Amino acid sequence: MKTVKVNAGVSYDVIIGKGLLSDCGKYISEITKAKKICLVCDDTVDALYSRDTINSLESAGFSVCKFVFEHGEKSKNATVFLSLLNFLAEKHLSRSDLLVALGGGVVGDLTGFAAACYLRGVDFVQIPTTLLAAVDSSVGGKTAIDIEAGKNLVGAFHQPRLVICDTNTLSTLDRDIYRDGCAEILKYGMVYDKDFLEKLKTRHVSEWEEEVITHCVEIKRDVVSEDEFDRGARALLNFGHTAGHALEAISRFEISHGAAVAWGMATVTRACEALGICEKGCDEYLRDILVKYGFPLEYDYEPDALANSALSDKKRTGDTVTLIVPSKIGKCVTKDINTDKLKEIFTLGR
Ligand code: GLY
Repeated sequence: MKTVKVNAGVSYDVIIGKGLLSDCGKYISEITKAKKICLVCDDTVDALYSRDTINSLESAGFSVCKFVFEHGEKSKNATVFLSLLNFLAEKHLSRSDLLVALGGGVVGDLTGFAAACYLRGVDFVQIPTTLLAAVDSSVGGKTAIDIEAGKNLVGAFHQPRLVICDTNTLSTLDRDIYRDGCAEILKYGMVYDKDFLEKLKTRHVSEWEEEVITHCVEIKRDVVSEDEFDRGARALLNFGHTAGHALEAISRFEISHGAAVAWGMATVTRACEALGICEKGCDEYLRDILVKYGFPLEYDYEPDALANSALSDKKRTGDTVTLIVPSKIGKCVTKDINTDKLKEIFTLGR
C-alpha cells in the first residue's frame, strides 16, 4: 500500500493499494467521530461494490444508509443533488456525520458538493473506482454539478478527509472507461514529466497501476498544495480540456471525456507547433503515444463549431480565453489568446 499526504486547507491521506475496500471501515474510523455514514454511489457501482463497503463500515461500528442514482454524467444535476440533500436530512445526518463517495468522477463531484453544502459543510471520503477518479478527480477538492449552461458551473472547493483507492476495483472497468483514465495520466506526463511519459510509452498503465496512480497523485498533491483554489498553477491540469470540452459538447457527450481530452491535447499541440509556440517534434511524439493507447484522433467537426463551443466554456474572460499550451514535452504553460484565434487553433490542429 502507498500513502500520499495532501496538505491543502486540511491535510488528508490518499491510500492506494489492492483490496483496501474491505478494510475501508477501519481506515475511515481513524479519521472521523461520525456515527452515521451516507454511502453514495451509482447503480453500476452499487451492484459491484456497495455490499463489501457497507459490511466493512458496519463492522467498524458505523450506521450506514445508502443513496443510489442512475449512472452517467446526466445525473450530475440539480435534481439529483437536491434529492441527496433531502435524503441526508430525512436520515438525520448531523454535522459530525460523514458522506462516502464510492465511484467515479460523477459520484465524487456530486457527493463532494452535497458534503460542502449540507448543514454548511460536512466531511466526506472519496473511494474512487475509476482510473480517472483515482488519478485526478478524487484528489484536490473540486466538487460540482452541471447546469444547462454547462458542465461543472456550480460547485465548491471542499477537500475530502481521506481518499481510499482500491486498485482491484479497476479490474471491472470497461476498456473505454479505463482508457479515459489513461488520457489524464498521459496529460500529467505532457505537462510535468517527460521521463514518466517515456516509461508510459513502453509500459502500459495497466502493467504498473499502483505506481502510476501514486505518481499522478503526488504530482496533483504538489499542484494543489501550491494553488488549492485554482488561481494559477492548477490551471495547467486543464491541458487539452478546453478543446476537449468543446468536442465533448458538440458530440452531445457521445465522445467520452478521456477521448476528448486526448484529442484536445493532440489538437492544441499540433496548432502550437505550427505557430512556433512549442518545440518541433512534439506533435508527432504525442500523437504516437496517444495512438498506442488506442485514442482516435480524427473527428469530423468544423473549426467554427468547435470554437463556438469552446467559447461557452467557463474559462473565458472577456475577449480572451486561457489556453494551456505545451512549450516542449513535459512542460506546459498558460497562454491568454484572443477568442478570434480559437478557430485558427482548431484549423491548424486538424
Ligand atoms: N481536474 C483538474 C483539477 O483538479 O484542477
